[in-house]
Amino acid sequence: MGEMLQPCGPLVCVVGARPNYMKMAPLLRAFRARQDLPGVVLVHTGQHYDVQMNERLFSDLELPSPDINLEVGSGTHAVQTAEIMRRFEPVVDDLSPSCVVVVGDVNSTLGCSLVAAKKRTPIAHVEAGLRSFDREMPEEINRVLTDQIADLLYTSERAGDDNLAREGIPAERVYFAGNVMIDSLLRHRQKAVPPAETLAHGGIGAGFLDHPAGFGVVTLHRPSNVDEPDALTEALRLLCEVSERVPLIWPVHPRARANIERFALRPMLAEARIELLAPQGYLEMLGLLASAKLVLTDSGGVQEETTSLAVPCLTMRENTERPITVEQGTNTLVGRDRALAMRCVDEILRSGGKRGRLPELWDGHAAERIAAHLAGWLAQRQAHHVVSHA
Ligand code: UD1
Repeated sequence: MGEMLQPCGPLVCVVGARPNYMKMAPLLRAFRARQDLPGVVLVHTGQHYDVQMNERLFSDLELPSPDINLEVGSGTHAVQTAEIMRRFEPVVDDLSPSCVVVVGDVNSTLGCSLVAAKKRTPIAHVEAGLRSFDREMPEEINRVLTDQIADLLYTSERAGDDNLAREGIPAERVYFAGNVMIDSLLRHRQKAVPPAETLAHGGIGAGFLDHPAGFGVVTLHRPSNVDEPDALTEALRLLCEVSERVPLIWPVHPRARANIERFALRPMLAEARIELLAPQGYLEMLGLLASAKLVLTDSGGVQEETTSLAVPCLTMRENTERPITVEQGTNTLVGRDRALAMRCVDEILRSGGKRGRLPELWDGHAAERIAAHLAGWLAQRQAHHVVSHA
């Protein structure tokens, strides 16, 4: 038996679903800018495959086309994750990556990490340590498990470091790097598409923007809000009530759209001042968020983006894995509590609401810090390998 070869192949960077793209784009740029890092191979698992959810985002974010697309598509969690693993394994075999880089908490993050871990290929997890402490959320399972098997854990807020310490992850694997999603936001902020253009494109008259209260933006896709008829009905009722104070623009995730039709809830929206749009590009979304009076969401990323943009955010969840957005940012958890949401809306319309401040290291340079740290870690590992085999 020959000795196990030290992997010296590329950095294999994995994306699967929409929120991964904003995190991976600045990382790819930072990795490619360094001579002391191996080359990069971008793998798309194909978890998200809609053109609207993919191609536009790739070009907006200046993400190169994936080198490899595994085309796994939709399925149950078991089927999707298993398919990701089956198709990612030969990629690792072929490329012997120096490191597999995963971001966030989607099924692709966990599936590819599991494959790499079993092959003793180093894993770097960017956006590690976030915890909602709610195992009803599929993403929470993905976070906890990915962090247990990752070799390098890059955190975006200090709470992440504490969570990892509590779970017994040695501190030397953890590095507080800041928020790569905010790297993307700051890079593209100036290029955001004005809301009037986005609405015109969606067939919505310019009059919509003339309301004295301004407008709110909605995003909703969590299974806990959109998969059960009762929950989705309650969520829509809340939106309808808010729209009596401030008109709402809602780019609808395919999962939410399908369920609105399936549960025959479309009539609820007919009378409300809520405009539905197709999923938007990154620059359109940025333009909408930046100009909004308030945002209603159940997305993780949008909680962070609104904090960075200093726009009040009402999060339609009972918990958040991103506590800093509540403690320091503009975020308030409202769940589907209409009375609470309306109190917050009135406060926002009266006084502007929470202004917040910018969390530590949400400064546009997180990816560069990660690239520098990773280069140092790989060099040390290489040196150790050479010594131990001399
Ligand atoms: C996934 C992530 C979630 C992330 C979200 C962002 C997991 C467990 N969840 O949820 O963390 O916030 O992406 O969008 O990984 N569909 C399409 N077109 C697509 C993709 C999906 O129509 O390109 C529809 C399909 O009907 C599919 C459903 O949306 O069954 C759900 O897609 P899936 O990838 O399973 O999860 P998301 O809800 O998108």
